[in-house]
Amino acid sequence: MDYPIFPKECTSLLSKYLSQDIFEELKNKKTTNGFTLANAINSGVKNLDSGIGIYAGDAESYELFSALFNKIIEDYHGFSSEATHKSNLTIDDVKMKELDDDYVLSTRIRVGRNLANFPLGTIISKVQRDEVERLVSMALNALEGELAGEYFPLLGMTSEVQNRLIKEHFLFKEGDRFLEAAGLNRDWAEGRGIFHNHDKTFLVWLNEEDQLRIISMQKGGDVLKVFSRLVKAINELEKQLSFSYSERLGYIASCPTNLGTAMRASVHIKLPKLAEDMSRFKAITDKYHLQIRGMNGEHSETKEAIFDISNRRRLGVTEVEAVQDMIDGVEALIQMEKKLEG
Ligand code: ADP
Ligand code: ARG
Repeated sequence: MDYPIFPKECTSLLSKYLSQDIFEELKNKKTTNGFTLANAINSGVKNLDSGIGIYAGDAESYELFSALFNKIIEDYHGFSSEATHKSNLTIDDVKMKELDDDYVLSTRIRVGRNLANFPLGTIISKVQRDEVERLVSMALNALEGELAGEYFPLLGMTSEVQNRLIKEHFLFKEGDRFLEAAGLNRDWAEGRGIFHNHDKTFLVWLNEEDQLRIISMQKGGDVLKVFSRLVKAINELEKQLSFSYSERLGYIASCPTNLGTAMRASVHIKLPKLAEDMSRFKAITDKYHLQIRGMNGEHSETKEAIFDISNRRRLGVTEVEAVQDMIDGVEALIQMEKKLEG
């Protein structure tokens, strides 16, 4: 592979940090699982509108290609290469403000997880992916009480059911071009699926961008209830599964934006006044380290002034701090919306 030349309009962190020197230093390296620099950057090279543009093949990728990853990680999370990640899942440490249900339509918190001793989805083999599906679905089927549910493989699911689950925000979309170029859609839909409890308040995605996306969600703004359910699920699953974790980088994820807590705590919120004043809106989201997404998740447009607002930082903050970023920021957005209403 030759050094990729990115056009001026390209603003991805990959294009910002992949200098010719770094490229030369890393281009012939390969992790034990056979992951190369060319594999890592393919998504950002093929998708010039990427925000980030790079994925890992395994935990080792983050060390072997650290000359590049560290810069991208520092830029995105504000996490220096000398820092060490810390975890805190103590529910009582969250300073709760009840989020106003007049504005907040629903709350969702997810974490990404990958199994220790397996490569990440970008280079996993079909046999290994099927084994991940077998191990994880077995663990999920053993859950009890509120977390008990059923695993539905994508293979064999009717398109009506699949489309309804996507429309209702429960299931991942299909054919994402960023994941495609990263190798994450290979053998689709083999090994992919969704587990959920009866009420669809606890869900787990299997073998999409990460091997597990553990999700807790419900209507309204009761963040504490959503967080508590998620923590319970994580603790129960950790009794049965061993997740890939690094002392320095926390939970290992295929995208560097998801390292650390791998947590995205979000609300769907209706803010018609702020929607008319995006610079004021963005000043608040920047202050509280929040990200704005559209109604149908990442890379989607906003409809009817309903936004998906979530914590942006996931590494170098604890889970409690990530959720607190979201709570405090959303509270500030609601205050401003009320003020604009007069
Ligand atoms: P991820 O959360 O894994 O980063 P996406 O941004 O693609 O991925 O979101 C996945 C799905 O979850 C989408 O359908 C999105 O609309 C939905 N979603 C995200 N936040 C909420 C929320 N607070 N309430 C309801 N659905 C949500
Ligand atoms: N690779 C995509 C980009 O660079 C997504 C990055 C962050 N999102 C994610 N789902 N990992 O725009």
